[in-house]
Amino acid sequence: MDEAAVYRELWAERDLRVPSHRRVDAEGRPTLEDIAAEVRADSGLLAVKRKGTADVIGYCGLILDGDEPELAFELLRVVHGCGYATEAGRAVVTWASEAGYRRLRATVWHWNVASRRVLEKLGFRETGRVEPDSVHGHTLLTVREL
Ligand SMILES: CC(C)(COP(=O)(O)OP(=O)(O)OC[C@H]1O[C@@H](n2cnc3c(N)ncnc32)[C@H](O)[C@@H]1OP(=O)(O)O)[C@@H](O)C(=O)NCCC(=O)NCCS
Repeated sequence: MDEAAVYRELWAERDLRVPSHRRVDAEGRPTLEDIAAEVRADSGLLAVKRKGTADVIGYCGLILDGDEPELAFELLRVVHGCGYATEAGRAVVTWASEAGYRRLRATVWHWNVASRRVLEKLGFRETGRVEPDSVHGHTLLTVREL
């Protein structure tokens, strides 16, 4: 699968607790073409490729539109549990440090234990700041000094 097809698959696979505007709707939107246009516009996130086969398995990178860079990652279900998110996240944290950033943030749903564990392994700490959302669960703010 190319990058856009993988990202479309990620949308289709998302947990039902993720807000519906971040999932594929009943009409099949976003379509593959919608996602391909976003990839072309370059969101700043990097495709994660496996060494050797070079197949795209998800994305990892920094969202740079706020006060502080935010780490984000998402991988295809078929590759979960292999340590890839931790490996990709570590590479991005190292890059951010070398690029001169002093602190990263990451937000995570409280029910997302796999992601919370990845962030813990990457050295992020939970700040205690919580954004309550009675429909989808609470969002936790985590940070990591570089
Ligand atoms: C979160 C996500 C990226 C993790 O990817 P991954 O490659 O499986 O992560 P890793 O293998 O590097 O590490 C996962 C860790 O979580 C743990 N874990 C996974 N599911 C778990 C569960 N249900 N309960 C407890 N721990 C769990 C694993 O055991 C592992 O920890 P360990 O190394 O101490 O054993 C992947 O699940 C994903 O893409 N989820 C959907 C998108 C998402 O949630 N993105 C993050 C938004 S903040």
